[in-house]
Amino acid sequence: MFKPSWLPLAPALGEVLLLSKASNAKRRQLVVGNWKMNGNLRENADLLARITNGWQGERGADVVICPPFPYLSQAHECLRGSSIILGAQTVSERDKGAFTGETSASMLADLDCKFVIIGHNERRRMQHESDLQVAQKFEAVQKAGLIPILCVGESLEDREQGKHLETISRQLNVVFAHTGKDVFDKAVLAYEPVWAVGTGKTATPEQAEEVHKFMRSQLGALADSVRILYGGSVKAHNAQQLFALADIDGALLGGASLDADEFLAICKAAE
Ligand code: 13P
Repeated sequence: MFKPSWLPLAPALGEVLLLSKASNAKRRQLVVGNWKMNGNLRENADLLARITNGWQGERGADVVICPPFPYLSQAHECLRGSSIILGAQTVSERDKGAFTGETSASMLADLDCKFVIIGHNERRRMQHESDLQVAQKFEAVQKAGLIPILCVGESLEDREQGKHLETISRQLNVVFAHTGKDVFDKAVLAYEPVWAVGTGKTATPEQAEEVHKFMRSQLGALADSVRILYGGSVKAHNAQQLFALADIDGALLGGASLDADEFLAICKAAE
């Protein structure tokens, strides 16, 4: 089985990139904690201490934590010496300039982030990010040498009308048209059905597997090597069942990433 040689310190980017190139080997599982707009200095210090204590040494899955921007440096400091990797929740599609409030991919690289979540449904819906903008962000992240975690997923309405694969296909195709498919050897995909995020309603194993298989089938030559995460009300009690599915390579967590015990239980289920 493919296994990277982890260092006691946070891994170098080259090693992280290698993880998604394990063609024909079992893909290494990945658990990503998306804290969204939660936390403060005191709570973060406590949460990160508990997580790093519970996830020591060389482990059988990769773990990424994506705190809010103001706490990236704090998290970087707290994660020093652990194998947990730092990520960000979003990024600007632009390089630099007069874009008040925005953060560029090179700034995230400067802070030692290795992964960036792109196209989360909360940003598509609430910040009106278009499919094209998501594709531009994907490109900006890769240009800075970071790994995009590209989120796609259908609304409840799409699901009820049987249009879920159509929506996902559209979201993927805009990125494929912009960057080509070859660059997905340095990317992670995440399926997050909008109706399952923060609702306590998880996709059934059949629903999740159908979409993951479909997404994999769209990746051409890289179909077997790209990691595809599931996100949407993943908790310790349902993680094992999802991780057992052939085309699910880990989870993108919201609520469960804010509770150290819950988060660690899911990371351990992924090993
Ligand atoms: P929940 O796990 O809270 O449903 O959120 C999932 C999510 O949006 C992760 O990006």
